[in-house]
Amino acid sequence: MIGTEQYTDKYIMERMEIMSKVAVVYWSGTGNTAAMATAVAEGAQEKGAEVSLMFCGEFGAERMDDFDAVAFGCPSMGSEQLEEGDFEPMFTACEGKLAGKKIALFGSYGWGDGEWMRSWEDTCRSDGAVFACDSVICREAPDEDALSDCKALGAALA
Ligand SMILES: Cc1cc2nc3c(=O)[nH]c(=O)nc-3n(C[C@H](O)[C@H](O)[C@H](O)COP(=O)(O)O)c2cc1C
Repeated sequence: MIGTEQYTDKYIMERMEIMSKVAVVYWSGTGNTAAMATAVAEGAQEKGAEVSLMFCGEFGAERMDDFDAVAFGCPSMGSEQLEEGDFEPMFTACEGKLAGKKIALFGSYGWGDGEWMRSWEDTCRSDGAVFACDSVICREAPDEDALSDCKALGAALA
């Protein structure tokens, strides 16, 4: 008879190999994109992925290969730009690792029309990233619909 402990270890090891590893990497000044990031992480987790939710300072190009898929979140800052102090330098460093990488983008904005996200998508496309789904943007704090879209985005990455 196979020992229950051994069987359990084997089962766990196999599950760990099957589970996809998803990183959710974001910047947020007033919490709106942070709330979106939490929903993205929940969506990926509910789909069975092993999820790491990180503020952008905890992530870098050297960690890109550790994950099967990455969700990047950043609000519209400056003038329709990514946040320049922390997020953009981290993201620019990751660009060299985007070719063939499964990604998705999300973020909050205020008064614009989402131009920052269109430019960001263009950048990722020219880097050769593979979009798992459409980006999710919302004006200021995410409402129930936006949070549900964020969960679906996370699920698409899992
Ligand atoms: C310095 C600064 C620049 C901003 N620039 C833009 C912009 O160009 N276009 C826009 O739609 N919203 C802009 N916003 C609004 C933010 O994108 C919006 O408040 C967003 O919800 C902030 O997300 P967060 O809570 O994750 O920081 C700006 C906000 C700040 C503080």
